[in-house]
Amino acid sequence: MLNPELAIIPRHVAIIMDGNGRWANKRGLPRTIGHSKGVEAVRETVKAAAEAGVEYLTLFAFSSENWTRPETEVNDLLGLLRKFIRRDLAELHRENVRIRVIGEREKLRGDILPLLLEAEETTRHNTALTLVIAFNYGSRDEIVRAVAKLARDVQAGVISPDAISAEAISRRLDTADIPDPDLIIRTSGEERLSNFLLWQAAYSELLFMPEYWPDFDRKLFFDALKTYASRDRRFGGLSTKTAAVAS
Ligand code: FPP
Repeated sequence: MLNPELAIIPRHVAIIMDGNGRWANKRGLPRTIGHSKGVEAVRETVKAAAEAGVEYLTLFAFSSENWTRPETEVNDLLGLLRKFIRRDLAELHRENVRIRVIGEREKLRGDILPLLLEAEETTRHNTALTLVIAFNYGSRDEIVRAVAKLARDVQAGVISPDAISAEAISRRLDTADIPDPDLIIRTSGEERLSNFLLWQAAYSELLFMPEYWPDFDRKLFFDALKTYASRDRRFGGLSTKTAAVAS
């Protein structure tokens, strides 16, 4: 990367795409227009992430709590995701993007699950960016499912209770073979994780940006990468600067 401000590229960026509704309200438009504009921001962000050399991009597309929104809005969101997969899958595949889906699958009904599975299957050998779509995803639900799996494995004698470790739990999460996010971005000025990647975020850098998601673009993505590059990650140890002074 020629730009020295981008010397450190996060391997995994995860995004809480917030503010579609407020973006639309501000313009006197229906919320659904905000969501449609949000899909355009998704397209631009996927391109920017691939261009920057990010390996994993996780997008919080639909939370396990989003089902409580009015039925018309739920249908709009599901419709947009369907359209995104149907229209963009061929291009993403051509661009060598691999699609992965995290979230609860067992109780999903209708055509959305087969579509998501098809996207995963079609792109499974791709080696450029991995686009992780969090759909029907809630972090506590994911942890509960992982713990239940672990309990079943203990019962079956696959693992002994003494061998339970953070690693044993991580391996049973939906994100089992995906590295933890280095950077989590939330747009719209809200400053919370809202049940997103709680386990995986233990040492993530958090970046809260004021812009609403439909306004997110390549420039804001690269701005976020610059901020990340300027952070001092310590993982519970000493900063590299402090360590140099101490020794
Ligand atoms: C938050 O805005 C956004 C969502 C709940 C959904 C995000 C979904 C998309 C951008 C479209 C589909 C996704 C993909 C991957 C194609 P909000 O409605 O909570 O906004 P508000 O807080 O301003 O009301």
